[in-house]
Amino acid sequence: MAKSKSRWVCQECGFASSGFLGRCTECGAWSSLVEEITTETTGKGRPKESSQIESKPITLDFIAPADEARFASGLKQVDEVLGGGVVSGSVILLAGDPGIGKSTMLLQMARLMAKRGRVLYVSAEESAQQVRLRATRIGRSFNREEEVDVLITSEQNLDCIEKYIIDSKADLVVIDSIQSIYHPEISSAPGSVGQVRECAGVLQVLAKSRGIAMIIVGHVTKDGSIAGPRVLEHIVDVVLQFEGERHGQLRILRAVKNRFGSTSEVAIFSMKEDGLQEVDNPSAIFLADRLKRLGHKQAASGTAIVATGEGSRTLLLEVQALVGTSAYPSPRRVANGFDLSRVLQILAVLEKKAGLSLAREDVYVNVVGGFEFSDPAGDLGVALSVATSSLDRSVDPGLVVIGELGLSGEVRPVAAIDRRLKECQRMGFTKAIVSAGNELSGFKKGSLEVIQVEYLKEALEAAMPGFKTSRRKPAAEEMSFEVKPTMAPGREISPVGDI
Ligand code: TYD
Ligand code: MG
Repeated sequence: MAKSKSRWVCQECGFASSGFLGRCTECGAWSSLVEEITTETTGKGRPKESSQIESKPITLDFIAPADEARFASGLKQVDEVLGGGVVSGSVILLAGDPGIGKSTMLLQMARLMAKRGRVLYVSAEESAQQVRLRATRIGRSFNREEEVDVLITSEQNLDCIEKYIIDSKADLVVIDSIQSIYHPEISSAPGSVGQVRECAGVLQVLAKSRGIAMIIVGHVTKDGSIAGPRVLEHIVDVVLQFEGERHGQLRILRAVKNRFGSTSEVAIFSMKEDGLQEVDNPSAIFLADRLKRLGHKQAASGTAIVATGEGSRTLLLEVQALVGTSAYPSPRRVANGFDLSRVLQILAVLEKKAGLSLAREDVYVNVVGGFEFSDPAGDLGVALSVATSSLDRSVDPGLVVIGELGLSGEVRPVAAIDRRLKECQRMGFTKAIVSAGNELSGFKKGSLEVIQVEYLKEALEAAMPGFKTSRRKPAAEEMSFEVKPTMAPGREISPVGDI
């Protein structure tokens, strides 16, 4: 007999309560609890896959060192991100905004991997015809004779999907996406926290017990978290994030969590008419024409080139800033591709340590190409772009700046400086400003002149010859009227602003 059970589940954090609550006691979200009715089946129900996993406790010495069976995904950079290929029995979550290219990448991968094993693609979001259309589109870059077919189904019912997975004896299963499949025993709608958690749980047990590698697509919600938030991230072994400007060409794939490798590698793709293409030298896309375009002319104010590190890769990116007098009582600060609080900190350092007056200015900072980076080595680039925009000064087009900015205005050393400088040299840059604290013993000087600085103001002076750090203007001078000190008998009054 099937028994119905009701519970209320928070859609933000997955907290479950036996009764309705207006506010989640776990995460504090309001009106986030949704009723879920589960049917408990007694007797014969779903096969208990977990019972097949060997789990009797044994001591560490008795556990045979197992070589993870990995197989190549067919995309070189994706393998690097995964730590050397897809591990059998692992569950990978691929998260990203809708339309970023998740289905495209997975279909390409599925077709390449189908040469080495059986691949089942569960396209719960799109019909088999739509997948076929996409396959035709990306098919142009495939060699038809080598092509081995991928099994496609557009099933959404988890029970049927489970059956197909078992029957097809697949080595790799792609679920596109977790938000559009449903567990028939749970009443809530597909995509709700309960559904996502239960479906992911079932798939994970299936993957582990049968050694199937599973790639699950998860959409990102408006606030940037993976829908069905923390619940999913805990269940899976690897979380891959697919980012980029939807309307731009470049995409970055990075591992946010990886039980089988590091999380520092990234894969870079370019979205072409016939699918995604791996990009070996992304810096060239942004900057190759910069030096040619500018020649010996000065680069426009408000731009700076930074060398950020992404795993074993160095990315040269252009940071742009626009500083202008604000029309609002509280000036606007906007950052795209860089942490806003970090920008605010850099602005404070610029004001205090380099004498720039930014309190009444709007400041917009943007990383060109829709890229995002969190590497502190980019601090100096942000500072330089803001300073040049504020002062309307141009810089040498062959200049690149690398350094973290401390609160006392010091330029701090960064990791892997040799690699970064080598990349700058390779890309044709002629001058680099780096921290004096960085050891440069491993770097062979060639066409790249390296200037080492200790403080921000030295960096600005090196980038903008003639720049002098001025003390902030006294408040009275900024005002248009003159303040005449009046002498009170017996008291000396110091000039206003010099306090
Ligand atoms: P898609 O893989 O459907 O995104 P997701 O699964 O993440 O929602 O990709 C959709 C976008 O990619 C769409 O705007 C069209 C574009 N695209 C190309 O530019 N070239 C191609 O070869 C393909 C298949 C898609
Ligand atoms: Mg899709």
